[in-house]
Amino acid sequence: MSDLLHIEVSPLGNHSISRSISKEFLAVFTEKNPGAVIVTRDLAEDSIPHLDGETINAGYTPEASRSASMLAKHEFRTTLVEEVNNAKHILISTPMWNFAVPSVLKAWIDQIMMPGATKVTGKVTVIVSQGGSYAEGAPRAGWDWQTGYLKQVFSSIGATDIEIILSEFGLAGVVPAMADFVEHKSASIAAAKSAAKERAAA
Ligand SMILES: Cc1cc2nc3c(=O)[nH]c(=O)nc-3n(C[C@H](O)[C@H](O)[C@H](O)COP(=O)(O)O)c2cc1C
Repeated sequence: MSDLLHIEVSPLGNHSISRSISKEFLAVFTEKNPGAVIVTRDLAEDSIPHLDGETINAGYTPEASRSASMLAKHEFRTTLVEEVNNAKHILISTPMWNFAVPSVLKAWIDQIMMPGATKVTGKVTVIVSQGGSYAEGAPRAGWDWQTGYLKQVFSSIGATDIEIILSEFGLAGVVPAMADFVEHKSASIAAAKSAAKERAAA
């Protein structure tokens, strides 16, 4: 078992808002759980291969009949599934890209969703950084295909304790049209950091 499976997504390194929030989570988590076993997958550094035909077909092919390539791909997929199944807590930290999850995260999801084999038994925390706001009343309310999707993915594989920690207006101060939202951005990041620390301490 691991105490935490940590999936990091943003390629923006020290400039990343989602990473700055997960950093706060990790600081509290490691303080509260000295010696915690943490498995980290930084998808910006080591991307996960897309699920291809060989990987899918390996699941339907008896082991003895699998090619060497199928065996290797199936073994890697199984490792990812086991990381999910064996985690007491899963932490995902991701930006919103094009109203959804970045493709590196989608590739990880496609690999871990192995029918009948994937089962989450622990907590799931999802830290999301969005450039705008999709809250009720916003001009683009209803355009968020990310947070509901992530919740559905994890509940479909058994998670019952899922918390989404959302930070909005990330593009304020970056895109001129959003200059009026700079204060909303700071407040939203601060609130997300507090929520992350609280969740890590729970
Ligand atoms: C390729 C790309 C696509 C993006 N698409 C969206 C989008 O559809 N909606 C949105 O609100 N922000 C979008 N953004 C802005 C990011 O979600 C925002 O800047 C966020 O704070 C980035 O998180 P990070 O700093 O952790 O990488 C996009 C940014 C990039 C680079």
